[in-house]
Amino acid sequence: MSIKTLLAVETSCDETSVAIVQAAFTEGAWQIKSPERVRVLSHIVESQTSHAVFGGVVPEVAARDHLLKITPLALQAMAEAGISADALDGVAVTLGPGLIGALMVGTLFAQGLSLAINKPLVGINHVDAHLAPALLLRSFNTAHDIGQWLPVELPTFPALALTVSGGHCHLSLLHNEKDRTLLGCTADDACGEAFDKVAKLLGLPYPGGPHLEKLALTAATNLSSFKFRTALTDKTNRHGFSYSGLKTQVLDTVRRQLGHPVGKIQGTSLPENIKANIAHAFQEAALGQLIDRLQNAIEDHHGIRSIVVAGGVAANKMFRTKLAEQTNLEVRFAPMSLCSDNATMIALHAFLPGMNMNSPHPFSRYPYSS
Ligand code: KG4
Ligand code: ZN
Repeated sequence: MSIKTLLAVETSCDETSVAIVQAAFTEGAWQIKSPERVRVLSHIVESQTSHAVFGGVVPEVAARDHLLKITPLALQAMAEAGISADALDGVAVTLGPGLIGALMVGTLFAQGLSLAINKPLVGINHVDAHLAPALLLRSFNTAHDIGQWLPVELPTFPALALTVSGGHCHLSLLHNEKDRTLLGCTADDACGEAFDKVAKLLGLPYPGGPHLEKLALTAATNLSSFKFRTALTDKTNRHGFSYSGLKTQVLDTVRRQLGHPVGKIQGTSLPENIKANIAHAFQEAALGQLIDRLQNAIEDHHGIRSIVVAGGVAANKMFRTKLAEQTNLEVRFAPMSLCSDNATMIALHAFLPGMNMNSPHPFSRYPYSS
């Protein structure tokens, strides 16, 4: 067995995250086969709070905040792991997509570290990496799994993969843990972005997804007063997503409730029960679209054996329950603590087969647009 240790950096949006993760491979299998076991030695995620007053992420603020935090957090990660920089076998970093200023802080830090210790650097696609924890691990709990060797248990392939976050909504067909075909993505907004915007409209704090989920739980059982449509206008598009129309329907509903047909509005003043019912109806529609797209993909691609779900919205408990109720296939959600942006997923993705740790200069091509 050979053990490899990576330090990973994630700074694509508003989380500054550093992790040190080990993987145990059958001798000679690194970059050829998946590891047998993995061990997270440190997992640090600092969510930037300075955006809250703006109700959304401000790119310039995000970049400056990463700049302040990245070095202290990397030192803290090494101290917590009990590992010095010399003991690392490489550095993994999110190359994109993401906010360019924020990405530059992480990538330049990682490049500097890799040069200083003379170890390879691998650039990782953030959207692909969201899936890695769900692919490799059945569970991961920060309260008791840090420092523990965990068995790698891959799902059965072919699998459908849904990455659903604040910036992305991707449905892919996974042939195995490294080869995938993109089936569809969003035509406009991502699902998490719609959660955030509706939450903001209802006066909930940023990021709105978890707050909206909590509010929806308080809705009355008789919800006939609100119903939102999610069908895509293009009926031939069976694997794509669209959330801008849903956002507009919610906006129109809030306008009607407030009696303000035009101009700037804020739903904060709506009665609590109305806000809760709107939140519930929105969530039903938003999650319904995700499940509908998965069902189409199951119908269109014979022999699907499992479903893998990751990204911030995968933390939604109602989604977990609803999807499990709708399918007999194995459903693998990313562990709760690894749904939102984090560096552990970046390290885990770097341990998948086919990741080239020996590329002398991973930034010589830039394949990921925003
Ligand atoms: O993956 P992530 O941390 O960042 C991106 O790569 O975008 O996802 C963040 C998104 C936000 O839009 C947030 O509101 C949403 O995930 N989110 C949720 C929940 N928890 C986080 N959406 C719905 N329900 C949740 N419980
Ligand atoms: Zn993300």
